Amino acid sequence: MFRSIKWRLILLYILLIVVAMQFTSFYLLEGIEQDYLEEARISLRTSGAQLVRVLEAEFKRGPYTRELAEGLISEFRPRNDDTLVLLVSPDGQALVASGKEADSYRGLNVLGDLPILADPLGRNESADAEWDDINDRKYLSLGVPITGQIAEGTKQHEVRALYIREPLDNTYRILGDVQRRLLNATLLAIAVTVVLGSLAAQTITSPIQEITSKVTSLAEGKFDIEVKVKSGDEIGKLAQVFNYLTAQLRATLTELRNDKTKLEAILTQMTNGVIALDMHGAVIHANIRARDMLGITHDVTTDILLEKLNLGSFDRLIQGSGPKVVEVHLNTPYEISVRSHAAPFHSAQGDISGAIIVLQDITEEERLEQMRREFVANVSHELRTPLTTIKSYTETLLTGALESKELAGRFLTVINDEADRMERLVKDLLTLSQLDYQAATLIKRPTLLDELILDVADKLSFSAQKRGLRFRTNFPEEVPPVLANADKVEQILVNIMSNAIKYTFDGGDITVSIDIAPDQVRVGILDQGPGIPKEDQARIFERFYRVDKARTRELGGTGLGLAIAKQIVEAHGGHIGINSQTGKGTEIFFFLPRLSTQVGGQVS
Ligand SMILES: Nc1ncnc2c1ncn2[C@@H]1O[C@H](COP(=O)(O)OP(=O)(O)OP(=O)(O)O)[C@@H](O)[C@H]1O
Ligand SMILES: [Mg+2]
Repeated sequence: MFRSIKWRLILLYILLIVVAMQFTSFYLLEGIEQDYLEEARISLRTSGAQLVRVLEAEFKRGPYTRELAEGLISEFRPRNDDTLVLLVSPDGQALVASGKEADSYRGLNVLGDLPILADPLGRNESADAEWDDINDRKYLSLGVPITGQIAEGTKQHEVRALYIREPLDNTYRILGDVQRRLLNATLLAIAVTVVLGSLAAQTITSPIQEITSKVTSLAEGKFDIEVKVKSGDEIGKLAQVFNYLTAQLRATLTELRNDKTKLEAILTQMTNGVIALDMHGAVIHANIRARDMLGITHDVTTDILLEKLNLGSFDRLIQGSGPKVVEVHLNTPYEISVRSHAAPFHSAQGDISGAIIVLQDITEEERLEQMRREFVANVSHELRTPLTTIKSYTETLLTGALESKELAGRFLTVINDEADRMERLVKDLLTLSQLDYQAATLIKRPTLLDELILDVADKLSFSAQKRGLRFRTNFPEEVPPVLANADKVEQILVNIMSNAIKYTFDGGDITVSIDIAPDQVRVGILDQGPGIPKEDQARIFERFYRVDKARTRELGGTGLGLAIAKQIVEAHGGHIGINSQTGKGTEIFFFLPRLSTQVGGQVS
């Protein structure tokens, strides 16, 4: 209970009151007591002197008996029966005694009991009335010298001192009364203090209680709270500061939340995987991409993770000086090549607080690199073969074959063919590289595909006829124009149709069809050749890819025709594909966008 400010304040008030009242009582009572005692002393001395005068006058008149003296004294006795008056002989005997207790003193030697009598008996003046405390009762006593004689029968006894002892009951009753009143006042003040103090404390503690309860809500995460500012004092200021604090916290929190959402959005949208580990090696965060790349469906332990990525132990990772870069090939559900950069990250204080692993999907990069290597190898190989032939035939000619006209003629024909082949190859490579760089600047005009197909068929009719092949067409009545570069589209057609001629069995049909789709035109070239096995179908559009290398080389193919066709189709915003069944034939088809849909296209 006394832990609360309210009760402590009340206790303090009570203590203050008690202390104040104590001091007040002490000084007040002390003062009153002194005053009363002084007054009592004076009155005792006065009555002592009077009694001495009266008695001495009586004594002078003649022999005076004890009974007479006692009668006189009891008449004169200043206050009441409780006052003891003694007349004492020089040797200390109480000759006369008056008052309630007179019997216990009369005739006895009182000098031992009443040392105050020493002075008057010695004929000295009495100094002052003295304060006496007998059996818890307070008295004031006085010893005064007196001269006279008391007659007892024939004997005369000399009287030397008068002793008066008066109880101070009245004084102490008044003092006790004052003390009681002061105590009552103190108790009343305490009672009032408890009530008023608790009200006063309430005004201080209730805003503090309110703030405390709001702070508790704040700690529980409720930030939309406000304390009512009721006063301009320190507590009012505290409430103001508290409101400012919550507003500030709210703003910071919103900012943090926004940042977090932003960060989460960035992490979610990233094409790279990101994994964050805390300083104990536990996974704090793994974005969707990272989970996808690693094939994580549930929580994964760091050890497994690091082992998968071949990053070594977590301790070595965070103790390492720089980032660690490792490339691994994963078989998550699908094949993927991942390059991981792992590095420790530091807190604002500069301590290591965990590690970040960034995963980069390098599958495509690796594929392109692989393609580039293959391409260079293929080009070198394709160029070397005819060169070797030319070189060996030339050497043979130089070493004497020139002599034989017939031999020289045959050799030169071979050399010429091989040079043609090289020329074709170089031309194709040039076309491809031009397409790589100039696809965007291809000049396109409205082009009629049916006319173009018939043109190409015408140009190829000689080689077709040689093999006994027939071109058939399957065109709709009206063919809408496409926006295309006619030369390039002609090259597509030549490449595809010459393949059809090359690979179709003698005497077969080659059907070229046109189909109109809502926004594109489809051209299909169907032959009756051997077909292309399923596993090769996806790859025949790659550069230098040939299904049967030996046979196609024999037919003069380098494997660039379809790659060029694909490149051109794509440069037109279309796509190319294949339908083929081994033993039945092959259809190579491509789509080109229709003119009407090419509003934004480049028409010139
Ligand atoms: N109509 C077809 N029937 C069967 N196989 C085909 C057909 N068209 C293409 N191919 C296969 O696809 C491969 C790639 O064709 P592509 O036209 O790119 O090269 P190529 O004909 O060998 O050489 P190039 O056309 O450069 O002289 C060919 O080598 C062949 O194996
Ligand atoms: Mg070809």
